[in-house]
Amino acid sequence: MIQHSLSEFQLSQLEILKNLVEARFSGHGADHDWYHIERVHQLAMYLQSKEGGDPMIIAFASLLHDISDHKLNGGILNDGGRVTRQILGDLGHEEAFSAKVAEIVDGVSFKGAGIPDTASTIEMQIVRDADRLDAMGAIGIARAFHFGGSRNRPFYIPNQLPSDHKTFEAYSTDKSHTINHFHEKLLLLKDRLHTNTAKEMGESRHRLMADFVDAFYHDWNFSSES
Ligand code: ADP
Ligand code: NI
Repeated sequence: MIQHSLSEFQLSQLEILKNLVEARFSGHGADHDWYHIERVHQLAMYLQSKEGGDPMIIAFASLLHDISDHKLNGGILNDGGRVTRQILGDLGHEEAFSAKVAEIVDGVSFKGAGIPDTASTIEMQIVRDADRLDAMGAIGIARAFHFGGSRNRPFYIPNQLPSDHKTFEAYSTDKSHTINHFHEKLLLLKDRLHTNTAKEMGESRHRLMADFVDAFYHDWNFSSES
């Protein structure tokens, strides 16, 4: 059981938000479904228990972090903060609280290999680390191939090299094969985690992905040469 310091009242507000987010994510694909949100929320609360930060902001931002993802909202970038403010306003939360949560929601996403992350608060660092840990390891591999499969992309195309995206737009509209996504994002995440707890947890997740990609090339090259 993860230790936290939320009051009964805060827990009841959290429950209301969980139900609302779960309903919004019903029917979403496995790369971005309610289970992803739930795992990120659990990871974020675990990181908070080790690293500190405001548990209410972390709890809310982790539940809302994908509320208006560009891959699901028709391609609008950076729309999550607006939707977050709307939802929290409707639920009667104070503007100052909603603004802090919205800032994290807008800042959490990976925006391309060539774009540095800015995370000035521990709350932002924790929610981003939690989201990234769920993109790594066994679940990260499963999510990547689900994502590629849902768009009918090949696992791999020899000679189609990864790119070092310099803008969020270039990253978000790229349609290359799924193995490239490991080089363009997943294998870079280990060095882009912020907190020590996430860095420790990320090591074995990273190793599994690196071994997987090596084995993939090994098997691919064997079959094309035989
Ligand atoms: P974040 O949660 O940082 O915003 P994304 O929304 O970019 O991450 O990605 C959500 C999930 O879909 C992740 O597991 C990610 O690895 C996967 N994904 C995103 N883009 C691709 C892609 N081009 N090919 C394969 N998987 C992808
Ligand atoms: Ni996410």
